[in-house]
Amino acid sequence: MQKIYISDLKNFIGQEITLKGWLYNKRSSGKVKFIILRDGTGYLQCVYFKGSVTPEVFELCDKVTQESSIEVTGRVKEEPRAVGGFELDGVDLKIISLSQEYPITPKEHGIEFLMDNRHLWLRSSRQVAIMKVRHRIIKAIRDFFDNKGFVLMDSPILTPAACEGTSTLFETEYFDLGKAYLTQSGQLYAEAGALALGKVYTFGPTFRAEKSKTRRHLTEFWMVEPEVAFNDLNDNMDLIEEFIEYVVQTVIADREEELKVLERDLTSLKNCKRPFPRISYDDAVEILKKNNIDFQYGNDLGGTDETIISNQFDRPVLVHRYPQEVKAFYMKRDPENANLALAVDVLAPEGVGEIIGGSQREDNLDLLLERIKEHDLPQEAFEWYLDLRRYGSVPHAGFGLGLERTVGWICGLEHVRETIPFPRMIYRNTP
Ligand code: 4AD
Ligand code: MG
Repeated sequence: MQKIYISDLKNFIGQEITLKGWLYNKRSSGKVKFIILRDGTGYLQCVYFKGSVTPEVFELCDKVTQESSIEVTGRVKEEPRAVGGFELDGVDLKIISLSQEYPITPKEHGIEFLMDNRHLWLRSSRQVAIMKVRHRIIKAIRDFFDNKGFVLMDSPILTPAACEGTSTLFETEYFDLGKAYLTQSGQLYAEAGALALGKVYTFGPTFRAEKSKTRRHLTEFWMVEPEVAFNDLNDNMDLIEEFIEYVVQTVIADREEELKVLERDLTSLKNCKRPFPRISYDDAVEILKKNNIDFQYGNDLGGTDETIISNQFDRPVLVHRYPQEVKAFYMKRDPENANLALAVDVLAPEGVGEIIGGSQREDNLDLLLERIKEHDLPQEAFEWYLDLRRYGSVPHAGFGLGLERTVGWICGLEHVRETIPFPRMIYRNTP
């Protein structure tokens, strides 16, 4: 038999059909019972009238509990006032599995309780909406790069060395070979890919043993990292702008319903069109000074600083040319000022802060060797990476976009913990 989902109902108006799913909610008013069915694709109000169904079915309507799995049969009606625009005139109801005391009731629960029950919390309409937006963002990201002729090239998760500094590495024993580390970024491998394929992107989980307990930090998060041979910092910024505009505009057009469930005001996101403001680190410091922030020139921008800077603009802002001391070893120095790295961070508006970090890469062998020494990194582990500068080195650039921060921004969420199905944070690795 053909499986029918709530999202298909427009094709079955006037017909008697059977649907399977779970009881989301129910209410009763004497001679009528209302059962809200959910099946992942949507919600459907099923109405059972006392006279039109058997007494057994009518009784079952009372017996069936929240989150029981059920099968409903009835005739599909258009009903503009009902959720989803349809209603089922119920004739039959079967319980597949009766749910006993489902822990998440419609009352308010504390966040720790919900996080402990994340495997069940995912069934709520809000979490379902977030997961659907997340999925659409992932698809938009892939479509953007695929349509531009980039090749998706996966990078390893177990790696022999650090990419983004040694302080946030998760380590593990690796047979007779000593230690291996969970990757912080696929970038170094993406660089090898760019020199093989021209334009590539990696898209996968990355890991940081971040001690920070903030609303922006996970220990396991997903990052997309494009890398392009012959791109310089300006090309990189052009690509970033086009990319963000595409992702935001595609997702808000295609996930309007879910964003409404999340009560997301779309004004700011609709505004997210090129060109975006581009300011230097020096300009950013000026903004902080004007806002009476006691900021030491040369420091990295902190979360609060980023919020203040991004609040000055109505769309994402690109901050470029940071002091080299606060940036990674692989970044190329500005030929105009060797104290600066050709870096670019993107700060999202509405107080979201950094969603992208990127740069032009150091393509000179001797300079890169110097940086590896300055950063106290083990040269042997980077020999393969240095080969990329020994054999046909070219200027190249790329960036990394954090998926969860992007989901949080587009969905208008306060904390990244709801942006990924099973978040990993300093104080949480379950369920
Ligand atoms: O700025 P980051 O550290 O840059 C890199 O890893 C580069 N290798 C990227 C590249 O050039 N290919 O991280 C990039 C982005 C951040 O802007 C942020 O969105 C996200 O990854 N991110 C995190 N998201 C959640 N939790 C964390 N702990 C994160 N750390 C970084
Ligand atoms: Mg960064």
